[in-house]
Amino acid sequence: MYLQSLSPAQQVDFALFLVFLFSGVVLIILTVCTVWFIWRYHHTRNPVPSDIRGNITAEILWTLIPSIMVMGLFYYGWTGFKALRTVPPNAMEIQVTARMFAWTFKYPNGKTSSTLPVPVNTPVKLVMTATDVIHSFFAPAFRIKMDVVPGMTTYTWFKAERAGEYDIYCAEYCGVKHSAMMSVIKALPPEEFEAWLAQPLAMHGPAAGYALMESHGCFSCHLLGEAPQDTPSLEGLHGSTTHILVGGKEQTITVDDAYLTEAIVNPGSSLVRGYENTMPPYPDFTPEQMRSMLEYLASVGKNETGPLRPGADDDQKAPPVKHVHSEK
Ligand code: CUA
Repeated sequence: MYLQSLSPAQQVDFALFLVFLFSGVVLIILTVCTVWFIWRYHHTRNPVPSDIRGNITAEILWTLIPSIMVMGLFYYGWTGFKALRTVPPNAMEIQVTARMFAWTFKYPNGKTSSTLPVPVNTPVKLVMTATDVIHSFFAPAFRIKMDVVPGMTTYTWFKAERAGEYDIYCAEYCGVKHSAMMSVIKALPPEEFEAWLAQPLAMHGPAAGYALMESHGCFSCHLLGEAPQDTPSLEGLHGSTTHILVGGKEQTITVDDAYLTEAIVNPGSSLVRGYENTMPPYPDFTPEQMRSMLEYLASVGKNETGPLRPGADDDQKAPPVKHVHSEK
């Protein structure tokens, strides 16, 4: 049957088209019948109403015909749903972690990324979980939308048939920066993808710290080199003097490694004056990861000549100077 040659996205579209077509045809038939009945059975033309109670033929027809049509719609909807839920056995598996307010993608070789590069024409299975609240992975180009829930794993899959970039959204309201929780599927020619995948991430130092912060979504809220709005800017922060509230009392401190560590692990304990307690705690970084991030923060801190600009690798590219989504 020709439907088998359609991709899941095309099957979903086909089911939608059928429902739309069906609705249109039914609308036209009902409207025409209504108008005709109003005209034909007006009391001037039909003074004595006929009584059709007990007309078995009519009752069978108006039960059978709509049932067959609705079952037909169900069949095509079910086929599309099955296609969306049946992962091809050769799919590449990628772990997805959602957190306020970023996506982290982990590849079979352990590489992590905040975007989702994939090879074209390869089915990709996403195995997803969340660290804090319910998010929803939404890639409209592939007609996939799946809840990402803390404490359980969900899955979805897609296959990019053409190289290009496809948007990823969070489709479940998850907090103040929900609308900034975006990423992108980058469908690459297989050789390009393999080259990207083989490129190692920096393991330590400021570049590693930047990559970690990028993949944990820090830059969804914290900007660099711009007047802070509802979150403190990270540029010039390390080594600066700031005012914090500890237990309701104001203190003046110098932002050092110890304070920044506390601000990452347990941000609610000492708020910078004027800011709300909106940042989730990040207690799971290893000491080495924490050191890398502190080195990165120091490199964009007060006593350095300027922000670090790591190499050209996708995950270690220059930190966004304005907003993290300005490049889109
Ligand atoms: Cu995550 Cu909305």
